Amino acid sequence: MQLQLTSPLDMHLHLRQEGMLQNVAPLSSKSFNGALIMPNTLPPITTKEMLLAYKKEILEATKEDNFTPYMTLFFNSSYDYDFLKSLKNEIVAIKLYPAGITTNSEGGVAAFDIEQLRPTLEAMSKLDIPLCIHGESNGFVMDREAEFIPIYKQLATAFPKLKIIMEHITTAASAKAVLEHKNLYATITLHHLYITLDDLAGGMLQPHLFCKPIAKRPEDREALLNLALNAHPKVMFGSDSAPHPKSAKEAPGCAAGVFTAPIALQALTELFEKHNKLENLQAFVSDNAQKIYKIFPPKKEVVLVKKEYTVPSSYGDVVPFLANQTLHWSIQ
Ligand code: NCD
Ligand code: ZN
Repeated sequence: MQLQLTSPLDMHLHLRQEGMLQNVAPLSSKSFNGALIMPNTLPPITTKEMLLAYKKEILEATKEDNFTPYMTLFFNSSYDYDFLKSLKNEIVAIKLYPAGITTNSEGGVAAFDIEQLRPTLEAMSKLDIPLCIHGESNGFVMDREAEFIPIYKQLATAFPKLKIIMEHITTAASAKAVLEHKNLYATITLHHLYITLDDLAGGMLQPHLFCKPIAKRPEDREALLNLALNAHPKVMFGSDSAPHPKSAKEAPGCAAGVFTAPIALQALTELFEKHNKLENLQAFVSDNAQKIYKIFPPKKEVVLVKKEYTVPSSYGDVVPFLANQTLHWSIQ
């Protein structure tokens, strides 16, 4: 049995820099045709020079494959229309982090004052540059995403022409909110379709399943599965694959991030097959994203074959999601 996917895309990916990038970028480009590259590098991507240098580094590391890095800029309310116009052809979106909410987000937005954000968001709206948001408050960890929903709604209403992508949604409340505004969209990760908080902390603590936002309740996972398996046109796949070295994960003060890139397509195929929804995988991993972002990736066929494949225990010093487990699909 075989499944052919055309131009699979990962619309939320952390590739890091230097040695880590050399290790992980080819693992994405083997499966995916392109990816939306997160800008939370050290320091974050905030200038044209940094963006072009980072893009070059990614292209160099993935040159064996035909891989398109769709670049993003780290949101900053000092960006004005002229600056953004000069970057319009180089970026696909801008990523907004609340300050300090996750890995390398210290330079993010400290307070959601619409008037302070207005000039930049209006410029983005005029230039048709989508805004991707890591939507979490700094409240109680299980409630952070739900507490951010009013901000999504406020932004969606105040800037009706701005496309806003709710990144890596994890709750039933977000799955509902994304449907309530015309200009809201969402990415869904592989791991939030697979696990709940129980898998992470219900037994022995599993540091490789720890990420932001944290995995939630079974009914939340159910709501995400409902959107993803039906490839609702407002949602698309974004792995949020976020590699950290083993030493940073298996440590007190475990870094947040689940590394899924090398096995994401195989595990998604398995999941969609299990739910008899294989026919919707193409839309979830490519077509929806192409429409939402108006991107036209070069055509590339990726063939998955029904053949057992045991996930390696590590890739360099990074432990992947589902390490040592056997999947039933492999990439040809
Ligand atoms: C990401 C990282 O490590 O860069 N971590 C994570 O837990 N998802 C950042 C992010 O997307 O929150
Ligand atoms: Zn992320």
